[in-house]
Amino acid sequence: MRYSRIVGTGGYLPEKILTNHDLERMVDTSDEWIRSRTGITQRHIAADNEMASDLALNASRKAMEAAGIKPGEIDLIIVATTTPDMVFPSTACILQDKLGARDCPAFDVQAVCSGFIYALATADMFIRAGRCRNALVVGTEIYSRILDWSDRSTCVLFGDGAGAVVLTQSDRPGILSSHLHADGSHNKILAVPGSIRSGRVQGKPFLIMEGNTVFKFAIKVLEEVAHEALTENNLEASDIDWLIPHQANIRIIQSTAKKLGIPMEKVVVTMDKHGNTSAASIPLALDIAIRDGRVKPDQHVLLEGVGGGFTWGAVLLRW
Ligand code: ACO
Repeated sequence: MRYSRIVGTGGYLPEKILTNHDLERMVDTSDEWIRSRTGITQRHIAADNEMASDLALNASRKAMEAAGIKPGEIDLIIVATTTPDMVFPSTACILQDKLGARDCPAFDVQAVCSGFIYALATADMFIRAGRCRNALVVGTEIYSRILDWSDRSTCVLFGDGAGAVVLTQSDRPGILSSHLHADGSHNKILAVPGSIRSGRVQGKPFLIMEGNTVFKFAIKVLEEVAHEALTENNLEASDIDWLIPHQANIRIIQSTAKKLGIPMEKVVVTMDKHGNTSAASIPLALDIAIRDGRVKPDQHVLLEGVGGGFTWGAVLLRW
């Protein structure tokens, strides 16, 4: 049997930190409100000259260094992003150029906060099908550029960053299964509805969200997709050593863990320091838990995400 395994992880957070106290000076909010409603205390903000591909480059170099893989050995690049450098070419092609990787397929995946799960599942299928050996899978986001900084209900929630993994062909898993879902009928409850037409932006180019609807939907589907992954692998929730969920809101994470019967000690939480970094949040959290030694060989790790679209999904792996 042919499987894929993650053999290196990397993360990058821009230098500038924006704290809740900084936000108190920008909109009518408080550190107490943000912390108690979301769990966030600070987030990182990209510099003016940084693009999503630059964040991705930094995270990718660390993942490739950890994997001991050179740019010439990468034969697939998938970038999950909602905030690409430009309309086209894809951020994956720009990243390929910046890395000095050549002649491999490179494309973006747009599944908002589930983007990394979609990208990882896709790379896994390429590897299982024998179409590539070493895939670079990246989530990179600069949400600070699609936020209305006068809207307190959204601007306090998000941050910028990138996370990357190198996925390699292996004769033992690795990735045990992946599960992807979408329901486009919910496309209006979380969106950046602007578009470009005749050289002008049409519609609102900022993030809009029905927070409460998103909240309830996220809790429901994160529980469902976790059960789907467990059932397919004949595992119980107690077999999961680490739950690494999309980092949107601590209350969503706590509710999901409680419904699944997974204690919070087994849940990786980074949102307090990162905010919601959308497609970057899961690989960033994975990188931190790998580098600080929490995740150990042969442990079961469940990655799961939910985001605009609506999209949601999970990847269950043995480390
Ligand atoms: N500071 C102070 N007050 C605020 C702020 C703020 N930053 N934002 C909203 N409020 C006010 C509202 O105006 C409202 O005031 P009112 O009662 O006078 O009308 C009050 O706080 C309560 O607002 P709610 O929206 O009901 O607050 P809620 O408890 O639902 O929390 C939140 C809002 C944090 C957005 C929550 O709904 C949530 O986390 N939803 C999930 C959304 C999410 O995580 N999205 C990320 C993208 S999707 C994803 O990644 C899955």
